[in-house]
This record gives sequence, C-alpha cells and structure tokens, in this order.
Amino acid sequence: MFKPKVFLTRRLLPSGMSIIEAFCQTDVWPDEVQPPYEEILRRVKGMEGLVCLLTDRIDREVLDAAGSHLKVISAYSVGVDNIDLAAATERGIPVGNTPGVLTDATADLAFALLLAAARRVVEADRSVKKGEWKTWGPAILLGADLRGSTLGVLGFGRIGRAVARRATGFGMRILFHEPGKTAPEPGVEATQVDLNTLLSQSDFITVHTPLTPETKGLINASALAKMKPTAILVNTSRGPVVNQTALYDALKTKRIFAAALDVTDPEPLPADSPLLTLENCIVVPHIASASVQTREKMSQMAAENLIAGLKGERLPNCVNPDVYR
Ligand code: DGY
Repeated sequence: MFKPKVFLTRRLLPSGMSIIEAFCQTDVWPDEVQPPYEEILRRVKGMEGLVCLLTDRIDREVLDAAGSHLKVISAYSVGVDNIDLAAATERGIPVGNTPGVLTDATADLAFALLLAAARRVVEADRSVKKGEWKTWGPAILLGADLRGSTLGVLGFGRIGRAVARRATGFGMRILFHEPGKTAPEPGVEATQVDLNTLLSQSDFITVHTPLTPETKGLINASALAKMKPTAILVNTSRGPVVNQTALYDALKTKRIFAAALDVTDPEPLPADSPLLTLENCIVVPHIASASVQTREKMSQMAAENLIAGLKGERLPNCVNPDVYR
C-alpha cells in the first residue's frame, strides 16, 4: 500500500504515533533535543506531511525546502508562533494545532505556580534541603493569602477562563483584560477592565495571551512599575510577552514580590540567566501541558490533523482556515 512520507521533529506519544505509523512512511528525528534548523531543511525535502513542536522554527525557507509535495503541517501544540502562517497559507498548506485538550493542564500549572509563588514553596523546600530549618518562627517565610485577593487574568481565552474558574474556588476577585472579549462564561464572576486597571489593582497577574507582535513585551518596565509592590506575576503563555530584563530589575529591587515562569525567552533559559539567581523567581521548563493524559490527547489530535491533511480533507483543528477559501 502506498504510504505518504512525513517528517516528525520528535517522536510523539503512542496514541498519535500508532495512527501515524499505520498510515504513513515516517522519518522521526530520534533525539530528545530538537533537530538543528539545517537538519529540518534537509529532512523536510519531498515530504507530504510535517509534524513539528513549538521548539522548531518553520519559516518560508523550510516550506521552500519541503517543496510542492507538502500538504499539511501539524503542530503538537496549541501555540503556533513558531510557524510562518502567512507563508503556509500562501502555499495553500493547512496548519493544524491542538486546542482545548491542554486547557485544564495549563490552568492547573498556572495555579500551581501561583500558589507556589504566593506561599514561597520552592524557596522553603530549598531552605530545608540546605539545612536552614532551625525553628518555627513568627516571621519565617511569610507569603500571601489568596482568599480575598484580586487576580488579574491577562488574555481571557480558554486557558484564562479555566484559571478564573479555579480562582473562584479560592475566593479571589477576578479582573480580566482582553480587547474584544466581553461576557465571561456563566459561573465565573469576572470584571473586564483596561490594562492599567488590571496592572494596578491585581495582587496576582496571570498571563494567557498568545504571542503576537502586539503582545510581545507587553509586560515591560512600565507595566511592572504599575503593579503593586506585593504583586505576583505568573506566565504560562510565551516567554517574549514578558521583558525579562525589566522583570529581573523589578524582582531584584522588590518592585514586585515574586514571579513564576513556565515560559522564558529564550528556551531553555541559559543556566547563567540572572533570573535564576533570585529567590523570588520560580522557573520551570515549559511544562504546562505536561501531564500524561494531556500529552496523549495532543498526540492523537496532532495525528488526526496530519492524516486529514494528507487525505486532502479539512483539518479538525486548523489555524489558517483561509486555505479552504
Ligand atoms: C502549547 O501547546 O502551545 C503549550 O505551550 C505547550 O505546553
């Protein structure tokens, strides 16, 4: 049986891999670390399908290198800022992603980071492991309460709303900012405010905007200056939404209380990044969607997008539907 050729920049989890292997002839990059850009250019030649991760730059040059056989790009992520969508659309190539299935996992991680930063969990763990636990004391490792505090949700799409639902259970007042969005979903009491109000009134600010030219550097020195000195910033969206130099200054000078980042710029964050010297900054390696169940679902969705594209059918989840006009 004829099987279309596809290049995968990493091996996916079994739920998707089994579907892909049954239908396609695969070239799978074997390493844990992503293929160098030159290797993507080389391997994509003549492929009908490409499965990529958010670590892979898929630009015009890659699409040119692939050639006219390329029928579909399937991203194993909801974010597709690593892919030149305009270039794909020009060539009539649909791009698939994995929305929805990672909403709760990402909201869980945002909340885990929020709690960890509020109650200084990582710092406390480190101090115990360093042998610094001398006694119970009235003012040791004091953090912030959630109940009665204000959460500012920047970006009120699926994930922002899921975080707001969690915050409701913790008795937080919720503000959100997302131009163009009005009514929050039933059961979530949240007030839409302008950006300055969100920055200045929130005790916790959680970032859930996609990375676009408009959101790049949105949390810069001027935004940080508007926050409360007790504010805690959580970012699980994309690293470049936050200006890291400005964040370092704000944390170092205690302009804000703490930050917790799942995403950085660049990724991985270099081991000598000044952010890693700060006790009031938690950094985890982009693990928001990293639960077994979620990654299996993402894997299956990525496979379904790929196969649909190879068959010339509409992708179940397509981020550039203009290709179908
Ligand atoms: C995505 O899918 O875009 C997420 O960042 C993965 O965790």
